[in-house]
Amino acid sequence: MEFDTNEDLHRARGWIQFAGSIAVLTGAGISAESGVPTFRDADGLWRNFRFEDLATPEAFERNPLLVWEWYNFRRERIAKAQPNPGHMALVELETRKSEFTLITQNVDGLHELAGSKNLLKLHGDIWQVRCTKCGAAWPDRRPSLPEIPPHCLCGALARPGVVRFGEPLPKRVIDLATQAVKSSEILLVIGTSAIVYPAAGLIPLAKAHGRTVIEINPDETPCSDMADCSLHGPAGEILPRLVGSDSHRPKESDARSGARMKTFAEMSAPEIRAMAAWLRSKLQGRANPLVLSQLLDGELVRRYLRGNEERISQGTRKEEER
Ligand code: OAD
Repeated sequence: MEFDTNEDLHRARGWIQFAGSIAVLTGAGISAESGVPTFRDADGLWRNFRFEDLATPEAFERNPLLVWEWYNFRRERIAKAQPNPGHMALVELETRKSEFTLITQNVDGLHELAGSKNLLKLHGDIWQVRCTKCGAAWPDRRPSLPEIPPHCLCGALARPGVVRFGEPLPKRVIDLATQAVKSSEILLVIGTSAIVYPAAGLIPLAKAHGRTVIEINPDETPCSDMADCSLHGPAGEILPRLVGSDSHRPKESDARSGARMKTFAEMSAPEIRAMAAWLRSKLQGRANPLVLSQLLDGELVRRYLRGNEERISQGTRKEEER
């Protein structure tokens, strides 16, 4: 696995651990390790098919049968896929945060299958079918539709329930996504080439509102220049480590149910450093310069550690005196 440095991972982990609110933007890359092809990688869909022939309103009008054949091919492939550790880590992260919004460009349904709850689907859902005339929509989970093109009960032709190039995104969904990005402390951007708008516009929006942006992607993307931290590698490997779903640390949900959170004295030196880095990023430009300089050179961290060592050695002396 390629990380820029372990330091980057620790830093990002600290931000994630101490953030109260998180928004996540996912793209096709998060499902790549589940065997769902992306669009623009070497073996991606748009390397082998022309989107103009398949994913525009004009293409559907010209040849609905061809479009539905392509969707049957994609449905069959996706139907075999299972959520991977990247999807699962996001489910775990959602249980720990009081404010969590998962915004996806994916239509494959793997986030729901994994168990994500507060999910906004910007580009629709491949398992939905929609009437071209009366607007009725219905779910259909069959891997391949036996009769294509399908028709609505009203008699009109039905289309796949996904957003096509040139069509607007559902207004309520993009409004909620925009609101979530503006109000969340962190935007985590995973597995997207970050070139398809309006989804990609959520990244500069987060920056414009002073939010922390963390990217996970094996490659550099336009997001990498804006991100506070880019972790280069596969989401299925990085996300469990970033979220800590590969460790046995207590969670916020445990705290609510009465289980104990880690105290400062129990935190390891890298965890304390991560917390200091997070504090520094939050306080920059706002904190008393003296406090900030103490944080910057680690003085507060050293003082805490010294205090803990003294308390521990006093405790040991008392034990020995008894
Ligand atoms: P793309 O195919 O454009 O980009 C996929 C991204 O995932 C690339 O940047 C890869 O480097 C990255 N990637 C590949 N494997 C990965 C892994 N294991 N872990 C993490 N990242 C990985 O897909 P999107 O950005 O999702 O729109 O594309 C955006 C939209 O364009 C899609 O929703 C679709 C498409 O046309 C519509 O259908 C409307």
